[in-house]
Amino acid sequence: MKPFNVYFCILIAALMLSCEKSESKPVYHSDRETATEINRRLGRGINIGNTFEAQPSWQSSFDADDFREIAELGFTHVRIPICWEREDRSKSTSPYTIYAEFLDTIRFVVDAALKNKLHIIINMHHHDALMADPQGQKARFLSQWQQIANYFKDYPDSLLFEILNEPHDKLTPALWNEFSEEALRTIRKTNPRRCVLLGTAEWGGVSGLKYLSIPSDEYLILTIHYYNPFQFTHQGAEWVEGSEAWLGTTWNDTPEERKAVKEDFKLALQVSKTKNIPVHIGEFGAYSKADMESRVRWTRFLSRWFEQQSFSWAYWEWNAGFGIYDPHAKTYKTELVNALLKDPMP
Ligand code: BGC
Repeated sequence: MKPFNVYFCILIAALMLSCEKSESKPVYHSDRETATEINRRLGRGINIGNTFEAQPSWQSSFDADDFREIAELGFTHVRIPICWEREDRSKSTSPYTIYAEFLDTIRFVVDAALKNKLHIIINMHHHDALMADPQGQKARFLSQWQQIANYFKDYPDSLLFEILNEPHDKLTPALWNEFSEEALRTIRKTNPRRCVLLGTAEWGGVSGLKYLSIPSDEYLILTIHYYNPFQFTHQGAEWVEGSEAWLGTTWNDTPEERKAVKEDFKLALQVSKTKNIPVHIGEFGAYSKADMESRVRWTRFLSRWFEQQSFSWAYWEWNAGFGIYDPHAKTYKTELVNALLKDPMP
């Protein structure tokens, strides 16, 4: 080979190498990047509460047009709490069949959200029998996940599954680690790459995180509920005994109040970093018995702060006691909508 050709070849090889180098991206585990990316896409969401998780006596009706409004406001996902355990929806004895009609109802809801370009989380909510008798109800719990996962297996990645809302009572932290891992294994048989949200024991809050064992899985998102200070967010809540005495509690966005929030999330931030798992705030909200100014301050600070931490979030909730929308008057609580979606961090 002539010296010119040799130099030419070396030059080409060097160019190819340098091109390869400049084009090569940092090596992330591509699957993990997907969970983080999907959590980023979840962004700002809202819970369709008091609807499919409710008992008939307190169930709000569902209006698929609400999803259009929700998307137009600027939300990017909806969380749909669902009680599959209700006797009109599934069999309580083996083979624990979820009735086709109810699965079709949920498919209608999922499709309506997707049509509006909303991501959607479906879960298991108010499974009281499971909380009261975990071992006795385990087969039913796993069978229901097997059926739901199979039914939705061909859906796009903008549909996410959340294993269980707020484990508590006899479903202890140790049992929750066992049950959630088994449910995940069941889901993975038909949905190997679907993003799954994993909550914490002891009612889903920050305090249950220290007990949580996080399975090694590329498509997990950690989900946490936040209602602190509870005496502020749940003042006058009819379902919380003694909460009448908390009426009048305010939240003033003081440095101390902000510091308490940051303290509460210390472990979550640490776990997210060390385990490389993205975080979603699945519920946060202050009940309508609190004064509106405090609710706005609390909601605004938290939404902006969650975003600063790269947490996605879903406000509790759309149109009931914590709601931002009055379905009868068809009006919004504009201050709360702005606090969630428009106001900057004060
Ligand atoms: C429950 C709701 C309740 C909310 C705030 C949710 O997890 O399902 O019934 O209103 O928490 O307490």
